[in-house]
Amino acid sequence: MSGNRTFTMIKPDAVESNNIGNITQMISDAGFSIKAMKLTKLSRVQAQKFYAVHKERPFYDELVEYMTSGPIIAAILEKDNAVTDFRNLIGSTDPSEAEDGTIRKKYAESKGRNAIHGSDSDENAIIESEFHFQPSEIV
Ligand code: RTP
Ligand code: MG
Repeated sequence: MSGNRTFTMIKPDAVESNNIGNITQMISDAGFSIKAMKLTKLSRVQAQKFYAVHKERPFYDELVEYMTSGPIIAAILEKDNAVTDFRNLIGSTDPSEAEDGTIRKKYAESKGRNAIHGSDSDENAIIESEFHFQPSEIV
């Protein structure tokens, strides 16, 4: 059975371009409720750890550089079928391949600087939520 929570980050490019409000509105309009949310900035070590699965990939150093380049919004979201529905809402990694009406189609600059993160499994949603939030910070 699929879980009802996912984890997201509004990435530095979208915070910098003043799209926190627009993206949060799209998330709410799609039926997700916010269980935790904060403005924060990743340290180099946090970004390296968060994206450790990609450490052998050619874009890893660039990804860590980008994710530490400015503040982000971290949030836990709730909805039935949260992981899959949220991945559909954000769209493909590369905005040129993302469907119309998706967050990345609207707000991502490029495949590297793509506005938003969404967990790719229920298991990772829990790991990533616990990476960013204490139990007392979740409503
Ligand atoms: P995310 O984990 O951030 O939600 O993104 P995703 O699942 O759609 O994509 P993933 O393959 O997990 O890649 C993680 C992030 O690395 C950057 N990336 N750059 N330049 C490139 O070819 C490239 N490929 C990936 C993106 O920021 C991507 O979201
Ligand atoms: Mg991913």
